[in-house]
Amino acid sequence: MVLEAQKSAISSATLPQVQVGNLPFRRCWAEINLLAFQSNIAAICHFLPNSVEYCAVVKADAYGHGAGPIAAAAFAGGVQLFAVANPIEARQVLTAAPQARALVFGSLFADELEAFADERMIATVSNEEEAVLLEQLAQRLNRKLALQLKIDTGMGRLGIWHDQALPLYQRLRSSPWLRIEAVYSHLPQADCNLAYTLAQKEQFQSILAELRQWDKGNQRIISHIDNSAGLTTFNTFPNHGIVRVGLLQYGENPMTGTEAPPVAVQPILSWYARVGMVKTLPTGTAISYGGRHTLARQSRVAVLTVGYGDGYGTALSNRAEVLLHGRRCPVLGRVTMDQIMVDVSELSTSPKAGDVATLIGTDGLEQITASELAARSGAIPWEIFCALSPRVKRIYRHD
Ligand SMILES: Cc1ncc(COP(=O)(O)O)c(C=O)c1O
Repeated sequence: MVLEAQKSAISSATLPQVQVGNLPFRRCWAEINLLAFQSNIAAICHFLPNSVEYCAVVKADAYGHGAGPIAAAAFAGGVQLFAVANPIEARQVLTAAPQARALVFGSLFADELEAFADERMIATVSNEEEAVLLEQLAQRLNRKLALQLKIDTGMGRLGIWHDQALPLYQRLRSSPWLRIEAVYSHLPQADCNLAYTLAQKEQFQSILAELRQWDKGNQRIISHIDNSAGLTTFNTFPNHGIVRVGLLQYGENPMTGTEAPPVAVQPILSWYARVGMVKTLPTGTAISYGGRHTLARQSRVAVLTVGYGDGYGTALSNRAEVLLHGRRCPVLGRVTMDQIMVDVSELSTSPKAGDVATLIGTDGLEQITASELAARSGAIPWEIFCALSPRVKRIYRHD
């Protein structure tokens, strides 16, 4: 829980010592600003009532930002609850933040069950089969196990469908081996469909009322439904006890289109590559595989050390721009595995081998965000971050 005292401690928190490494080479790398990350969490917590617990969503290697350093920085900033997709991710996070707890969003499998013997890991239960599995583990361990019950209010993914939630809740409550720690649901359209989201939230409220009506002994059932985009309607309904924040804490806007983010945050990740060579090519030259770009004039072309092997997807071919010397330069032709070509004809001085190009981040007055790359390639910003491959060295900064 990020309490008031912890909020103020965030700015002065001792930052985790993260291994930067000695950078044997830099061809394509991402710089992640952990101080900006902590500021984003502080800003989101400031927006929330003190009674609300902040759950940092750090699945998929913290959306490509690096689960270990991100979890350690969040924990140093007061976060004690994390959410991940599976037990392996949970272990990674709990190694970096040993005093924290990790909610596992994903399905429960018999062959992964033993992981939940770790009391810091919380399983999600969506049906009878998962309840039985968890009960079996609890019996083997001879102690109660905590769980969170997931209710599907309109995502069509995990969770018990809402009109069958009460019997499952009753069954879990009457088990001597299980303890329901919270009940949660998920919002699939909070970024783009207000009416749908409000209806879903109402549906969730009425289920919670039903559960409370049956369960006189547990009137204060902890509940949660808000993700980053859900925070835009956080104040519309009686507050839930937890919020699960992913994209927003990494400094990206979760809203579709031009809608402002629910809280002002700053990007924390910059992505760079270097100029490998520069050459002047004649009018009519076909650039890259498939000849999908032909030069309409004599052009100066720079070859950059990034490709789809780094996560710069082919959907960005002929569509994206990079920043060089503070100016936008268009990507020419198809993105290849290790390199892309960009048009640098408009730059007043020619770049040279070794110069740094910005793929995501700021250079002078220009900025490219993950949202921009997503819009240009028909993707979503979550996907742009997650696509960054292991070849892209992550460098952690604290300024
Ligand atoms: C169940 C659940 N809750 C919360 C989140 C966080 O979403 P966001 O990154 O939009 O904040 C996710 C992410 O996909 C999720 O699957």
